[in-house]
Amino acid sequence: MSASFRNTRYRQAHQGVATPAGGIATFSSPEVARPGAPTATLTPARLPIGPLLPVVGGNLAAPLAGGRTARAVNLDYAASAPALQAVADHVAEVLPYYASVHRGAGYASQVSTALYESARQTVGAFVGARPGDLTIFTRNTTDALNLLAHAVPADGEVIVLDAEHHANLLPWTSRPHRLIPTAGTIADTVAALEAALAERPAALVTVTGCSNVTGEILPIAEIARIAHAHGARIAVDGAQLVPHRKVDIAALDVDYLAFSGHKIYAPFGSGVLIGRSDWLDAAPPHQAGGGAVRSVNAEGQADWTTGVARHEGGTPNVVGAAALAAACRAIAELPEDAIEEHEAALSARLLEGLTQIPGVRVLRAWSDSTDRVGVVGFTIEGHEAARVAVYLSAEHGVGVRDGKFCAHPLLNRLGVTGGALRASLGLGSRSEDVERLVHAVRTLVTDGEKLDYELIDGAWAPVNDDRPAPSWSTWGATNPVDKGSECGF
Ligand code: ALA
Repeated sequence: MSASFRNTRYRQAHQGVATPAGGIATFSSPEVARPGAPTATLTPARLPIGPLLPVVGGNLAAPLAGGRTARAVNLDYAASAPALQAVADHVAEVLPYYASVHRGAGYASQVSTALYESARQTVGAFVGARPGDLTIFTRNTTDALNLLAHAVPADGEVIVLDAEHHANLLPWTSRPHRLIPTAGTIADTVAALEAALAERPAALVTVTGCSNVTGEILPIAEIARIAHAHGARIAVDGAQLVPHRKVDIAALDVDYLAFSGHKIYAPFGSGVLIGRSDWLDAAPPHQAGGGAVRSVNAEGQADWTTGVARHEGGTPNVVGAAALAAACRAIAELPEDAIEEHEAALSARLLEGLTQIPGVRVLRAWSDSTDRVGVVGFTIEGHEAARVAVYLSAEHGVGVRDGKFCAHPLLNRLGVTGGALRASLGLGSRSEDVERLVHAVRTLVTDGEKLDYELIDGAWAPVNDDRPAPSWSTWGATNPVDKGSECGF
């Protein structure tokens, strides 16, 4: 575990939750986290844990099938986290000034340009960008990693783990790459990466900071050291890590970091790629167009600029950038370790509750992992994940993600062929959310579903689903959740 991640043991103090001395299991406790392990003896004091920061929609009422309503429990932060109230407030504050960025002499344009560029500074500083690093705004992590994939020198090989989210897998497969099978332990996985580098040089090793399926954290500083020792650079998919842990790329010696606004409480369409400028300055522009050129001649040939503008063709998303910066500021203002402690306290309860239910298997990629964020993938023996997810929503007002989480190779390696469930926590989560989920899963296993369910166009829905939707939404009984692309599975 790198020293540059906040990594204190669980000593939850905020909101009156008992300390470990009081007997609460730590999140990383193998007794709690390991599937099939004996359940831990947990706290005698179960004081409620509230949100660490207010989020928009934190008290949303969700209709349940049958006419009742309940506060919507959002346990799907790993897919898309709700906006922090501070982010929404900042967006409302800056919107009156919204105008073109880098393109106008008007007052609002000048203010918007300054806002965009100061957001760049804030986001870069938030993750320890070095002088000379580029902080390029993108749409999201997928966009950022696709940009990087086109910037790695053409003859350079990229080494990728098969435990990656597709965002950090598929951008690499159309260029020279080696896919390294993930081993059963982190130690063996790191050794496999090192062996691959020793066998043949590579330009880049690209790894996730944290599994989007299991929440387990990889030893980034160690992998960076190994990559550099073999002459390779390292890129980190920080989509799941940055919202949960302090990440400092200078301290970790990471060359490139990508993450998404929508997973860090700023769902306004911005992501970011941060890192070394040389490959990026030499690469073809990510989006050819206005803003990315110094000049274009009569034949339409462009003299592309360098720096961040080279890859930010088109009108920048100033609101998205400002929102992302506001999220970074709000998180940076929290006391050291506050996020980790908040999630650890909730995660301990979640893991304790789930592992006590017969048939529940908590997914774990590496048997020696010792550090995880509040992301818990699990299966329930004899229950189809997609149907359980619909049951949780329709009967209990609980939102989780199900499927293969855009990480098919990892799910296959874990032997999960039909999809799994995933509960994920964040700043707006509270102990009541965890309790609702655990109660719902236990009820399912002991008593079964109360409602009947049917498949409509391949998606489960309660029979005669009577849940209303907002007037502006097309969702409803005749339009069950359409997962769109395969990613939901
Ligand atoms: N990458 C997001 C997830 O894991 C969408 O759910």
